[in-house]
Amino acid sequence: MRTEFDPDRLPLAILELFRIKQGEMVSALMHLGARLELWDALSGCEPCTSDELAEAAGLRERWVREWLHGMVAAGVVQHDDGRFALTPEARVALTDRGHWAYMPGVYGPPLTHREIERTAEAFRTGVGMTWDEHGDHACHMQCAMSAARQESFLVPEVLAAFDGATDRLQAGGARIVDVGCGSGVAARLLASSFPAAEVVGIDPSERALAAARARAQEADLDNLTLEQGTFDDLDRFGPADLLVTLDVLHDLPRPQQAVAAAARSLAPDGWWLVADIKGRGDLESNLKIPLLPYMYAMSVFYCMSSGLSEPDGEGLGTLGLHPARLEEMVRNEGFTRFTPHEVEQDPTNWYYEIRR
Ligand SMILES: C[S@@+](CC[C@H](N)C(=O)[O-])C[C@H]1O[C@@H](n2cnc3c(N)ncnc32)[C@H](O)[C@@H]1O
Repeated sequence: MRTEFDPDRLPLAILELFRIKQGEMVSALMHLGARLELWDALSGCEPCTSDELAEAAGLRERWVREWLHGMVAAGVVQHDDGRFALTPEARVALTDRGHWAYMPGVYGPPLTHREIERTAEAFRTGVGMTWDEHGDHACHMQCAMSAARQESFLVPEVLAAFDGATDRLQAGGARIVDVGCGSGVAARLLASSFPAAEVVGIDPSERALAAARARAQEADLDNLTLEQGTFDDLDRFGPADLLVTLDVLHDLPRPQQAVAAAARSLAPDGWWLVADIKGRGDLESNLKIPLLPYMYAMSVFYCMSSGLSEPDGEGLGTLGLHPARLEEMVRNEGFTRFTPHEVEQDPTNWYYEIRR
């Protein structure tokens, strides 16, 4: 570690520190782009002037022009001779709803003053926030972050790689339980992909369930039900031929208890599909992960906070459930088969196939 102050390094260090603040502010501009439907409007009229975009979006030109200039500065929008267009890659990521890379929901809304205050208090008391305590926006953000990847990968790539699972789910009478279903993206997807199966989504958060119910109603599925509950209630919903747990285990105050509950509720020849973050176990190895500062920030405000939302919670955090740790946890509860699957385009998650 360096200890001596080097004045020559100061200007660059200050720039780097400002870049951190820049990320927060530009992220809020990106959020406005999604909320005001400027991305869709731009992709519909590009290359266009700020007047044309303002007209297409039904907004005031002076505000749209400043936003556009900010987007050019951020490298998201290109400009030439007074006309603006998304870069081709940003067009896919910000406007193509069917693509795995679709990501406008990642941008917000930003954390509220209340969440910052509550998190500062948690540093003193030790007790963090459940996902539900953040408010409505958190379950929408969570779902927006994972929806495109779940819709693109879960059935054709992940379940297709599970030995015999899709045949079992297509045959009549199979039961699928999505525990910690959040706003119900995967539960809806599974119910529509396997119409002969009965799908139950359970989550403790009424806010998340309200979003899940709205999503299910839109799809008009008669094989999907959504119920309030936690891992502790799994016995009521099993035995499951396919148990699904997507980005939940690292958030739980008592993850080992959850693994034990999963072991009890899985049918003897069933599959447990767990998706969790590609953490590597310690800071040194984690430093090789792209977007690591973002992940630790998510951990402090959401994942570790949730894992510490009960006194003496385990608090694994966003990166805390690496493959070796999960393998040990599931073998402790009598599972004998543990296979991590990787989806090439998914930088974030491992998908685990876990069986007795
Ligand atoms: C990060 S979100 C993931 C939601 C969803 N599976 C997805 O991929 O979008 C974690 C979810 O776990 C839920 N949860 C928290 N404690 C739980 C528990 N003890 N049992 C089951 N779910 C729980 C939260 O309410 C939240 O909806």
